[in-house]
Amino acid sequence: MNDRPAKLPAAAVERAAALRREIDAHNHRYYVLDAPVVSDAEFDALFRELQALEAAYPALLTDDSPTQRVGGAPATAFEAVTHRLPMLSLNNAFGDDEAMAFDRRVREALGEDDVEYMAEPKFDGLAVSLRYVAGVLTTGATRGDGSSGENVTANLRTIRAVPLHLAGAAIPPRLEVRGEVLMLRRDFAALNAAQAARGEKLFVNPRNAAAGALRQLDPRVTAGRRLTFFAYGIGDVDWGAAAGPATQAALLDRLAALQFPVTAERAVVRGAEGLLAYFRAMAGRRAALPFDIDGVVYKVNRLAQQEQLGYVARAPRFAVAHKFPAEEMPTEVLGIDVQVGRTGAITPVARLKPVFVGGVTVTNATLHNEDEVRRKDVRIGDTVVVRRAGDVIPEVVRVLVERRPAGARAFVMPQSCPECGSAIVRLPDEAVARCSGGLVCPAQRKQALLHFAGRRAQDVEGLGEKLVDQLVDGGLVRTPADLYRLDAAALAALDRMGERSAANVIEAIAASRATTLQRFVFALGIRHVGEATARDLALHFGNLDALMGAPAERLLQVRDVGPVVAESIVRFFGEAHNRDVIAALRAAGVHWDEGRSREPVAGPLAGRTLVLTGTLPQLSRDAAKARIEAAGGKVAGSVSARTDFVVAGADAGSKLARAAELGVPVLDESQLLDLLAAAGQGPA
Ligand code: IVH
Repeated sequence: MNDRPAKLPAAAVERAAALRREIDAHNHRYYVLDAPVVSDAEFDALFRELQALEAAYPALLTDDSPTQRVGGAPATAFEAVTHRLPMLSLNNAFGDDEAMAFDRRVREALGEDDVEYMAEPKFDGLAVSLRYVAGVLTTGATRGDGSSGENVTANLRTIRAVPLHLAGAAIPPRLEVRGEVLMLRRDFAALNAAQAARGEKLFVNPRNAAAGALRQLDPRVTAGRRLTFFAYGIGDVDWGAAAGPATQAALLDRLAALQFPVTAERAVVRGAEGLLAYFRAMAGRRAALPFDIDGVVYKVNRLAQQEQLGYVARAPRFAVAHKFPAEEMPTEVLGIDVQVGRTGAITPVARLKPVFVGGVTVTNATLHNEDEVRRKDVRIGDTVVVRRAGDVIPEVVRVLVERRPAGARAFVMPQSCPECGSAIVRLPDEAVARCSGGLVCPAQRKQALLHFAGRRAQDVEGLGEKLVDQLVDGGLVRTPADLYRLDAAALAALDRMGERSAANVIEAIAASRATTLQRFVFALGIRHVGEATARDLALHFGNLDALMGAPAERLLQVRDVGPVVAESIVRFFGEAHNRDVIAALRAAGVHWDEGRSREPVAGPLAGRTLVLTGTLPQLSRDAAKARIEAAGGKVAGSVSARTDFVVAGADAGSKLARAAELGVPVLDESQLLDLLAAAGQGPA
């Protein structure tokens, strides 16, 4: 009838008990204390040994065995559980005044000058109640309406931070622990990443994800969602032989001793000052916490005083939730404008019906770029959720599509810049659209002038940020061409500008009239045209008009110029405003030697092109290149009729053959070093 062994071997009974103690202790260290002492592999070995024992001797199995966290068949519905003591809610305090008023009411009711409080984070999760009878978890329930909730025991058992039985010296015969079920931010991020990979709907925030996980009918689904738990109080209790705690602080310490997770962020404070100091400290730490909190909770610390204060309606008089200002609020999109940044980047910005969020009134929120607007499908007239966390720029998080009115209009990127009227262009492969009026756009003016005057551009010494700010803000300079019309008197009248420095700047501006084509092209600030490209363009075209008139196909013939750069150049010179400024600059006397645009460089190899091939005995490739360039030479990748020398080392290949074919002189390393040494470039 019964094929179970009549008697369990004593050794198996003992070993199973020892394994359970050990596994529970490791679980507690890992999930509650966050301080594991064994590797996952060691833990797994213990776990598998226990599973094997329980399989061999099914009579050994108990409900609270660590192997039994995920079990049972999916439920069809949750049963109702009546709470023996109601699960209350907290009154809220918004702002320091309301928090101080709470302290005043407490002091008045108690007739005390100075009250001690326990301050705790207000966890942004779901309240649950865990009932332990004789130290074993029997029932876990949601808060529900406060008097009865749903029996989610099977799901709560899957949470590793929830003890299946109590440990420690004095185990209370009856204990209901109240606390919050949460999803850590990192587990939330991982869950959403997995949802996205499967093409499934994303969860809005960790609280919603935790709520969804806890209300699964199949506990195996809950087990896969990684929830955690923090205890913050108790309900019905019988402490048994031991005396009950006298304060909230002692209660939390007691719960921690029984192996419940209790947050380390708690603190005992005194008076309103203590409360507000704690509030500020937590507001500062909020972003760094591994879980979401939406405020802090203050509780009168002495339980006798709590009792004295009692309850009003469904909330205690002895506690209050001091809430952080909401970081997300819904509001209406009145319009979508674009803003031009210092570099010409065009950012769509939602103009909003004013909304109080994150502690300030917000009227604008960034939409980042055109693709973001499409991705989030934000339309004018929509109700959107706006987020402002900390000091970050407010942003539109998502659209409440269900509230979209019939006439909602889609955003259309304007074709011309709202600041200067130049064309707005979006280059292939770029997420950002930009104003092409770099030289004339007021939004980009300061940046353009600073770049123009930079050391490697027109090199106007003394024209720094402070001066540019004053020149632009005072309306003295609009485009770089205006610089050449400045007079010393106007400059000397500016803040912190004596006659002497004004004269120096005027002189530096005048001196910058004589430039090179390379510097001038770089100074124009064409997007994607850095110093090297400017040099290549100057060398290739030799004069500005040829460059300005060049179609993309011709530009593509220039070394290192690809389609993106070519298009950017064509756009820049195609913009009439930019051509006007260039004409004004030339009219103001800015000039260079057309046709001889190469930067004059000194050195024994000035103007020479060398090609390196094979392995040199002493110099690495990079070192040789650096030496040659320092001596004014250029290192090219392939041998052509224009190559002056080929420097060949061991195992030189086709380049050497090509040099012979073209009659290019070939040097070895020592000859190269001699050449370099000729002007003191080589080793002593
Ligand atoms: S104590 C009688 N402490 O806030 C007081 N609640 O609005 C009962 N909560 O349903 C609650 N963190 O879900 C308390 N440290 C904390 C809390 C906390 C979050 C939640 C809890 C409760 C709600 C009350």
